Amino acid sequence: MLRSMILIFSGTLCFIGSALADKQALNNTCVGCHININPGIIKEFIDSPMANPPEKVDAVVCADCHGNQHTTATDYQKATMPTAETCGECHIQQFEQLREGKHNLAWFGMKSQIAWHGQPTAINQTGYRGCIGCHKIGQKGLMGIAQGVSGQLEYDDGKEIEQYHYGNAQCDACHTRHSFRKTEAQDPRACSNCHRGFEHPQWEMYMSSKHGIIWDIEGNKETRHGRAPTCQYCHMSEGDHRVITPWGFLGLRIPTKRNVLALIKAEPSLEKFWRQLAAQLPEGEYMDVDDDPQWVFDRALILQATGILDANFQPTQRFTEIITQSETARGPEEFNEIRRNMKEICHECHAKNFVTEHFKAADNIIKAADHEFAKAILAVQSLYQDGILEVPKDWTYAPDILQLYNAETRVEQELYLIMLEYRQRAFQGAFHASNHYMHWYGWAPLKAAVNTILEESKKMRAAKKKNP
Ligand code: HEC
Ligand code: HEC
Ligand code: HEC
Ligand code: HEC
Ligand code: HEC
Ligand code: HEC
Ligand code: HEC
Ligand code: HEC
Repeated sequence: MLRSMILIFSGTLCFIGSALADKQALNNTCVGCHININPGIIKEFIDSPMANPPEKVDAVVCADCHGNQHTTATDYQKATMPTAETCGECHIQQFEQLREGKHNLAWFGMKSQIAWHGQPTAINQTGYRGCIGCHKIGQKGLMGIAQGVSGQLEYDDGKEIEQYHYGNAQCDACHTRHSFRKTEAQDPRACSNCHRGFEHPQWEMYMSSKHGIIWDIEGNKETRHGRAPTCQYCHMSEGDHRVITPWGFLGLRIPTKRNVLALIKAEPSLEKFWRQLAAQLPEGEYMDVDDDPQWVFDRALILQATGILDANFQPTQRFTEIITQSETARGPEEFNEIRRNMKEICHECHAKNFVTEHFKAADNIIKAADHEFAKAILAVQSLYQDGILEVPKDWTYAPDILQLYNAETRVEQELYLIMLEYRQRAFQGAFHASNHYMHWYGWAPLKAAVNTILEESKKMRAAKKKNP
């Protein structure tokens, strides 16, 4: 293949005429020079489906993605780098789905985090290492509350993209350059550079579930037709590029009006605040889950400890930025629709009742985890209320779990680990049918951390009594 492209290159110069021939001729100069500079890129590209389209479809050329302004060995700063829009010119459906889906919010969601802004530039900006390396799957330039936009996100018309020479293409997160294959993106390993480790070890969970193990035993093919489902089978059914799940990353849902009004009986002293909060929440019911008032209250405490609700359980700016604009949690309508679709996928291979029981079990694990977590939160909150801990400089909320590892006390470090590591693993492990993650990396350390916090806070109180 490589050889035939080069032969064509020496032959084409004589039939420049039609636009197509011009395009080909230009491409031959790109290829002819780059074969000596980056032969790896040329080899990948000319073997790729886009350079070898079906009959009657024009082959894609370098200039379709990099422009035609750079043509010599010295003017390469004129080459442009593609964005998702560039790919969207020819793949409108996938482009529109990506834009509507959760991946598109990855960059915005990352920047909404207080912990991101606290990082040194070496950690959070240079060279796409760390947070931004994974989160570049999202669209740059979305503006939210920090930029004074309080409703729907707005777009900055490309200003932020201009600050980054590389890394704006988004689609190449799963279809890597310069091969851009469908089969690569269908392989669960294509998700695994990002969906692994600390707070979202979905790859490890999958590989310790029967689903992943069967996929592996049967030759780890990318196929959609194996005995066991892949990530894509469950999350990108029918090639839908809008990935989103019912519970979402943090396993939180937006409480409904009815959920919150039911708290009046349980915590009557806070009635005024419950009514104020309920007025701002959606109507509706969540399917499947058992929202007893204790669970709603436990979840409200989690939202409070993350600064999403304030001391009086009222929504803060973080509520707008994280819950509404980043879509980190769903309301009932969306939750029910996505869950119904997900269950349909399981029904292709499992009985309805089997699936219902599986979801019920996993929902109840979130409930049990939330109750343990809430005990730990109450203990740390009371250390602040009783003056045993002082609110750190620059913090608006305390405790503030979203300060992550920047917190200075042992009890708050443990709270952070419960939220981002243990609770995540317990519920994500349950949904992904990984007993290993659900229990030994999830529930077990969660319980241990709660015990540590309760014990530590007793000691801190005793020390304060001795040494007021
Ligand atoms: C005469 C040689 C030559 C020709 C012709 C040429 N390039 Fe290049 N190109 C270069 C060199 C040299 C570099 C710098 C590469 C390096 O530093 O490794 C470069 C870099 C690039 C880059 C990377 C720019 C960056 O900022 O990283 C792209 C993309 C590119 N060329 C695309 C093209 C396209 C598209 C064409 C045809 C329209 C083309 N090139 C034609 C020599 C050439
Ligand atoms: C100028 C039009 C054009 C642009 C721009 C373009 N593509 Fe394509 N793409 C094609 C054509 C033509 C095919 C082959 C069509 C086919 O196989 O039916 C294709 C096929 C594909 C496939 C399927 C390959 C396979 O394995 O069957 C993927 C994935 C893909 N493109 C991704 C991308 C990405 C990502 C970008 C942006 C970085 C992009 N395309 C930009 C025209 C384009
Ligand atoms: C380049 C890194 C990267 C790759 C590759 C990647 N993802 Fe993601 N994914 C993310 C990030 C970051 C988010 C969080 C998006 C946000 O902030 O809203 C996410 C979110 C998701 C969600 C939504 C979870 C929710 O909140 O409901 C699903 C589902 C998902 N990814 C599945 C996949 C699948 C399946 C693949 C492989 C085909 C994949 N991802 C490949 C980084 C990646
Ligand atoms: C379908 C779109 C597409 C086509 C066609 C395409 N590229 Fe690229 N190219 C990309 C993407 C995406 C990147 C990564 C950009 C980024 O990181 O922002 C890239 C990056 C590059 C880079 C710099 C990054 C690196 O890895 O060194 C070079 C050089 C380059 N392309 C050369 C070429 C040449 C030469 C051709 C033709 C043989 C070509 N490209 C065809 C999409 C394309
Ligand atoms: C058998 C189907 C199935 C497979 C295979 C699967 N998932 Fe999931 N995934 C689920 C279900 C079910 C949920 C939770 C749904 C809910 O919120 O009710 C979920 C949740 C998620 C979430 C969002 C919430 C969370 O737990 O953080 C992400 C991200 C995710 N999966 C990614 C992946 C990745 C990546 C893979 C492959 C390594 C994968 N999943 C494999 C079914 C699957
Ligand atoms: C999260 C990973 C991921 C991202 C990001 C992604 N894709 Fe895909 N893409 C896939 C998967 C998985 C498939 C195969 C779907 C299936 O099974 O039919 C696919 C299939 C495709 C196909 C082949 C469609 C067909 O069946 O012929 C095209 C074209 C494509 N994607 C283009 C894009 C474009 C353009 C973007 C950016 C706007 C993009 N993809 C972003 C995972 C991704
Ligand atoms: C290894 C890749 C990776 C790194 C590094 C990474 N993330 Fe993520 N992040 C992800 C993935 C994947 C998800 C989605 C997981 C899920 O839904 O279970 C995610 C989810 C998130 C979410 C939740 C988005 C939502 O609304 O669902 C936020 C916020 C976030 N990350 C911020 C950050 C910040 C800030 C950093 C650095 C301090 C960071 N991430 C580092 C891959 C990464
Ligand atoms: C393509 C077929 C397929 C799909 C789709 C599928 N599974 Fe499975 N699942 C299997 C196979 C095969 C096994 C292994 C059965 C065994 O252990 O005997 C399995 C095993 C399981 C197990 C472990 C069973 C046990 O006895 O330990 C659970 C739990 C499970 N699946 C849940 C789900 C859920 C929930 C969904 C949807 C989110 C789903 N599966 C989608 C094929 C599928």
